[in-house]
Amino acid sequence: MPSSSTKPAADCSDFPVVSFLMPLHLLDHPLAAHVLTRLRDKTTPPAQFRSLCHQVALLLALDATRDLATQEHAVETPLEPFSGRALARPLVVVPILRAGLGMVQPIVDLFPDVSIGYIGLERDHDTALARSYYCKLPPLKNTRVLLVDPMLATGGSAVKALDVIFGRGATEVDLLNIVAAPEGVAVVEKAYPKMRIFSAGLDRELNARKYILPGLGDFGDRLYGT
Ligand code: PRP
Ligand code: URA
Repeated sequence: MPSSSTKPAADCSDFPVVSFLMPLHLLDHPLAAHVLTRLRDKTTPPAQFRSLCHQVALLLALDATRDLATQEHAVETPLEPFSGRALARPLVVVPILRAGLGMVQPIVDLFPDVSIGYIGLERDHDTALARSYYCKLPPLKNTRVLLVDPMLATGGSAVKALDVIFGRGATEVDLLNIVAAPEGVAVVEKAYPKMRIFSAGLDRELNARKYILPGLGDFGDRLYGT
């Protein structure tokens, strides 16, 4: 058998461990690795890409919400009284438009009472700087906020969105990404040292055009077939 020069497919565990001060939580689940590889595959068509995005966002949401506050809640079973637990505080999901929209439905599936806010940001193709074009948020005081955006590249979009969210009175915010670049994590860490980032993969670096390598290309374009 001729030996192959093809490098094995990369996932988060293939890159050198970068140490960050802030808590960066990488999904550690075989299904997440499987889904991420299929998302990276350039031959994956939009229909499959959408359902893979749904799958991995669901895993991320479960990971990020394992410490949600609960409070005592009494119910009557058909046989006797029972003192159980119920979620204590309102949950809000805020997708960064447009690619973040692909991560909303799995969170609504898990938490049907969730409120949804929207922040529209678009990176300039030449400068990679994010420009704001839309913002509509529910009340954020005394809530737990999940900010969702599949790609954390330079970190510019995430920090801009976090500035708005904290500016509206939020105190507990987690950032959920499908793929993060070390550069973006460092930028978020500098601006918000204590904030938690949940990601399915930590990639190697950004290229000259500020795209993530190996990455998966332009997430929004692949999600929407543009
Ligand atoms: C992508 C992505 C993030 C942003 C990340 O959005 O969905 O929002 O880039 O890059 P950054 O960390 O360097 O800011 P894009 O601006 O391409 O808009 P889209 O979601 O409408 O495609
Ligand atoms: N936005 C994307 O969709 N992909 C990247 O690699 C970087 C920013």
